[in-house]
Amino acid sequence: MSRIRLHVNVDHVATIRQARGEQYPDPVWAAAMCELAGAHGITVHLREDRRHIQDRDVRILKDTVRTVLNLEMAATDEMVRIARELHPDMCTLVPEKREEQTTEGGLVVTGPEAKKVGNAVSALHEAGIGVSLFVQPDRAVVSASRELGADVVELHTGYYSNARGPLIPAELDRLASAAEAAVNFGMRVAAGHGLDYPNVVQVAAIPGVEELNIGHSIIARSVLVGLDTAVRDMLRLLDEGAYGR
Ligand code: PXP
Repeated sequence: MSRIRLHVNVDHVATIRQARGEQYPDPVWAAAMCELAGAHGITVHLREDRRHIQDRDVRILKDTVRTVLNLEMAATDEMVRIARELHPDMCTLVPEKREEQTTEGGLVVTGPEAKKVGNAVSALHEAGIGVSLFVQPDRAVVSASRELGADVVELHTGYYSNARGPLIPAELDRLASAAEAAVNFGMRVAAGHGLDYPNVVQVAAIPGVEELNIGHSIIARSVLVGLDTAVRDMLRLLDEGAYGR
């Protein structure tokens, strides 16, 4: 049984920095601490409005991250240009709306909107960068993602995280079914959004899921217990889920 990889999203370290326009806390330092605690990768979302992560952060992280740097971004010309210049290990394409607090839905991978995503996938592939698409946990959506050339699908766990009571098993089934479809298509499967210490084990237990992107809950816990402990606590839960498969 192999471990599930934990990619820590350090955006919210930058959120605290930007709240006062200071130089601290530095998400670059946080990334190094996450790696020292055992994280398998670092994720940052360079948003169009630069509300948290800045271009400078991604540039430095490209040089300092020793594991895997996953750049989350919208499928825009500007972001594709930046990614092709900086060459992170991986790009995850996400939908982005200015007014949202965080990424809300999955990418639209069918119809006219899909062309933009497909073009971004091709441009990133041309530069030798692997591409993940952040999508709804749905077999048809996974299939469309494959048509667009994605190497990885990141299944949106926000619906599961928001579900309560009897709705939870249905959301877990949707995630498991989408993960199975992706594996059958030969794609790698990641998942993320809204995952927290009390709800992560069940997602880590889904066959096929190889990697989780987790941000807010880890950074929030780190305020109280320190980043090293917060990352190690999460890694323990990932192992608990994966070993229980
Ligand atoms: N995966 C994707 C694609 C995201 O956009 C986000 C939020 O930036 C996350 C994972 C992490 O979500 P959370 O901060 O809720 O753990």
